Order: sequence, then structure tokens, then C-alpha cells
Amino acid sequence: MNKKNIEAIIFDLDGVIISTDEYHYLAWKKIAIAYKLNFNRSINEKLRGVSRRESLEIILKENQIQLSEAEIKHMLNEKNNFYIKMLEQYLSEADLLPGVKEVLSKLKQLKYKIAIGSSSKNAKYILKKTNLFDLFDVISDGNNIKYSKPNPEVFNIAAKLLNVKNKYCVVIEDAQSGIEAAKNAGMIAFGIGDAQNNDKTDIKLNNLLEILDYI
Ligand code: BG6
Ligand code: MG
Repeated sequence: MNKKNIEAIIFDLDGVIISTDEYHYLAWKKIAIAYKLNFNRSINEKLRGVSRRESLEIILKENQIQLSEAEIKHMLNEKNNFYIKMLEQYLSEADLLPGVKEVLSKLKQLKYKIAIGSSSKNAKYILKKTNLFDLFDVISDGNNIKYSKPNPEVFNIAAKLLNVKNKYCVVIEDAQSGIEAAKNAGMIAFGIGDAQNNDKTDIKLNNLLEILDYI
């Protein structure tokens, strides 16, 4: 990694910028209880970074259950309604992970381009509710993409919108699938939390402020 070549930083959202992870877990848990499905923290870890639909597919596979398309759509809708209700009620700047604001303002000062690369379809809502929306040059999210991480699509779109070559982009991720996606895009992968334990992670971060030591 050559520091001088880095032009853009693409942040995952859930689990990197903001700790919405617990709200996702609670919403899936509510669905699991209602439909008598086995769901626990270890299954929940497998949902990190993957789309809403693929998350449900993972839960159904764990339970060896197959449902019709109509039932799947209904459950996805219910899960999102639970999730959104919690965000409306509880989400605030207090959910931002430590160092977010300092890192973003320092990166701006250093003239890096900054983007979001998230599988979430709720990314814009979350960024607006936590007053971060205007800090990003580009938002590539679950509404733009056909394929979810580990497919690189969401990061490819971010780089394209930023007008930066993939190899000059750093991705900050907390999910295994996100690290895979960043490497599949030919980008530099910084891993935080669970993503520190991936062989493909280029730089392991204990916290967001450590980004500033590497760029
Ligand atoms: C990712 C989360 O950022 O977004 C996943 O890590 C989640 O857990 C995915 O399933 C989709 O989110 P949403 O908000 O579109 O349901
Ligand atoms: Mg994440």
C-alpha cells in the first residue's frame, strides 16, 4: 500500500459508522419469535454485510425451511417495519461509533473523497437522522445494487461516482463479506471488529481513529 496513491475512502455504514447492528438483531429476533424460528447471536453474525433478503435466506436455511415468494416478501416487510420503528424511536448521534466525526472531518481537511458503500436500503435515512448525510461526497447503497457483498458492485459504483480508480480506494469494513467485496473490487481493505479476523484484510483497525495512522 502506497499512502500517496490513496484518493478516496469508502465506508461501510452498519457496524463501521454507526452501531445499528443491535437494532438489526432485535428486529430479526422478533421475526424469529413470531415464526418460531431458531435464531441466535451466532446466526446473526452471518448476516453482517449481507442484504435483507439474503439475511432471511440464511435464517431459513439454518432452520431448513422453504417458503413461498409471497411469504418471504411479507417477512422482509415485517422485519424492515420493526427495524424502522426502532430507528425512528431510538436512533441518534449517540449511536455513532467512537471517532466517526473526528475521522470524517480530518479526511475532508486532507482532501480525500469520502463515500458510503453499504448494502442497506435504509442508509440515507440513517445518515440524515444522525446528521452525517452532508459529509459524504457519494452514497452507494442497497438501492443501487443488484448483487450484495461479497460481490464488489456496491464499491465499484462508489468508485465510479467518485471518479477514482478502484486501486486508489480504501474500504473500511466490519463484515467478512465486506472485506471479500473490497478485495474483489481490487481495493485496499481496512478491517474493524469482526473483519480484523480475515486473511484478506490489509490493515486491521482497533478503532476508526487509527485510519489516520495509515493514510
Ligand atoms: C448491512 C447490514 O449494512 O445492511 C446487514 O450489515 C443488513 O446486517 C443489510 O442486512 C441490509 O440492511 P437494510 O437496512 O436494507 O435492511
Ligand atoms: Mg457492516
